Amino acid sequence: MYRIIATTSFGLESIVKREAIDLGFTGITVSDGAVEFEGGFEEIARANLQFRCADKIMLVLGRFKAASFEELFDGVYGINWQDILEKNANFIINGKSVRSTLSSVPAVQSVAEKAVIKKLQTKYSIERFPKTGSTYSLLVSVLKDEVTVSLNTSGGSLHKRGYRAAQVLAPLKETMAAALVKLSYWNKDRILLDPCCGSGTIAIEAAMIAKNIAPGLFRTFDSEKHSCIPASVWKDERAKARGAIVQECVPTIYASDINAHAVEIAASNAEKACVEDCIKFEQIPFNKLTLPGKYGVCIANPPYSERMGDLKDTERLYRDMGRLFKQDPTWSVYIITSHEGFEKLYGKKADKKRKLYNGNVKTDYYQFYGLRPPKKTGESND
Ligand SMILES: C[S@@+](CC[C@H](N)C(=O)[O-])C[C@H]1O[C@@H](n2cnc3c(N)ncnc32)[C@H](O)[C@@H]1O
Repeated sequence: MYRIIATTSFGLESIVKREAIDLGFTGITVSDGAVEFEGGFEEIARANLQFRCADKIMLVLGRFKAASFEELFDGVYGINWQDILEKNANFIINGKSVRSTLSSVPAVQSVAEKAVIKKLQTKYSIERFPKTGSTYSLLVSVLKDEVTVSLNTSGGSLHKRGYRAAQVLAPLKETMAAALVKLSYWNKDRILLDPCCGSGTIAIEAAMIAKNIAPGLFRTFDSEKHSCIPASVWKDERAKARGAIVQECVPTIYASDINAHAVEIAASNAEKACVEDCIKFEQIPFNKLTLPGKYGVCIANPPYSERMGDLKDTERLYRDMGRLFKQDPTWSVYIITSHEGFEKLYGKKADKKRKLYNGNVKTDYYQFYGLRPPKKTGESND
């Protein structure tokens, strides 16, 4: 059993913790930007394929105290590198140091690299390692003199799902879009509307959640090429994920944008994600929009003045949003923006506000709850 870390954007830890519980992981602990759990190779493959809101899956190879370079060398040398890295492994050592005696990151990296090489030389009697093989991205992180050595099993960050080939200006990260959907009360039986859809990320992530399409199915991960993990583990986890897709689930999702090119891109991305049957894309400026039904959920990432567009247009859009949703109290509305005057322009105080970081931009996720949909016959009142 290993400790495995799912790294997260600040503010998403509790959502990633919930995902870890839902995926059946145990021994969960949470700290800033990290959710840790225990597991073996199956859990590593499952975590990479299934987490919707985490950034990277790191496998912990060693943990020890080090306030000197000797202690750092000995700790890194103590790891069984000869069983992990092949002779031609392209290992790259990244470093991090926070509030620690060993404060020079380049020195930490260099000492760690020497220790890895020395240990590999106990198995392979060569002076220089060619590094022509699979990539092993390692992190030596020192926090208050406590060292964690971990292997990035994902490679590129998990927000890179593989379905978003073309991009628009200021797209939302897929992991953040999935988090916005998870934080809303939307479910597959309710209408979803994104009236500022850009490249369609929110609509696509919602459709993938509804159909239970694992977000990692369209991409590969560094650990698929790591010889210490049997290829059959990945094959089995991918097969399980494919088998769990609920193809017949077709939620009603509307995605529109003022920009015709963005709508084209969004539709093509939805096709790549295999959810084009769930989303109706249209080019509509917000002020021409009518609500497509009752008890719907609107989730939107409209422009913020800092990032794009003209402030006047943005503020007019926020006012238009308030006016439209005022007409129908059955709609729930969720808006992410960094504009501090949003509630004033929208004309209503949010029922709940949650701080989130969209990249490096501090934003609020404003949540306006609509009336509850009537119970279907046979549904309990709990
Ligand atoms: C921040 S981007 C949305 C990015 C999107 N969430 C994504 O992941 O690609 C804001 C979008 O709002 C659209 N927009 C701006 N003003 C609009 C309006 N008045 N009506 C509809 N869409 C508008 C822009 O064209 C842009 O695509």
